[in-house]
Amino acid sequence: MQHLVDTNDFSDKQIADLLRDAKTFKTQRPIQLLRDKLLITLFFEASTRTRSSFEVAAKRLGAAVVHLDPSRSSTKKGESLEDTFANLCAMDPDGVIIRHAENEAPGMLADMQMTSVINAGAGNYAHPTQALLDLFTLVEHFDGDIQGKTIAIVGDIVSSRVATSGIRLLTRMGLNVLLVAPKPFMPESDLPQYDKLDDVLDKVDVIMSLRAQLERHETELFEDYDDYAKQYCITKERIKNRNILVLHPGPVMRNIDISDEMLDDPRCKVLTQVKNGVYMRMAILKLLLLDS
Ligand code: CP
Repeated sequence: MQHLVDTNDFSDKQIADLLRDAKTFKTQRPIQLLRDKLLITLFFEASTRTRSSFEVAAKRLGAAVVHLDPSRSSTKKGESLEDTFANLCAMDPDGVIIRHAENEAPGMLADMQMTSVINAGAGNYAHPTQALLDLFTLVEHFDGDIQGKTIAIVGDIVSSRVATSGIRLLTRMGLNVLLVAPKPFMPESDLPQYDKLDDVLDKVDVIMSLRAQLERHETELFEDYDDYAKQYCITKERIKNRNILVLHPGPVMRNIDISDEMLDDPRCKVLTQVKNGVYMRMAILKLLLLDS
């Protein structure tokens, strides 16, 4: 039984297989590889992209999906996460896809070895399927030539599980990662750190913008989001005609993270990331439920 708690659960060969399968699924109508499989989704935090993307991916491969809404479950009566999970596993699913505020939640359930556990985002620790779909988007865009490319991760890095998983996977794949954020948004890291976005624009091939989560921070560094946007919003005025790919995991705060104009620019691949997310998640489900 294989789990996906973070991308280091996958070998280099498995990551290469995922990239190959995601590309195949994108170009050929997939056969119903998982038609006898059943997945349960268990999202303790809100989601638009990840939950629907997993559901679409599973259904495109013929799997059935059952969603348990924790806000209407016996969690409300005090049932523990472990007991909820064990009860779901008693119904013999082939995998449980979980999003949780606690960093340790997916790993803890995986250790129970009752079904394959797939982390759909945990605290600020890991969001492995986002990292893998971002890798797929980069490999596709650069036609496989990603070694030595430089990516700046910009924004609220310390709160971001996308950044944590992205840094682990992209450095492993040979990209140079720079961090751009005001001090309170900067994690402890050996990676190069900048507080001014303008200082990195001539060094990077890719910018990954992250959602500003000013409400999560105790230090009031900016009076409001407009004040933050003046320094960190990705705008055409700032990027000019540079050949920089712009990514964002979503949800994008328009004109704070990325400007309206930049979101419509062909260099911005936000919706390509969402599209690729389905194909990468199809590849992940195939690997976990069929190939392992
Ligand atoms: N990228 C991402 O995790 O988006 P959702 O929170 O909408 O799933």
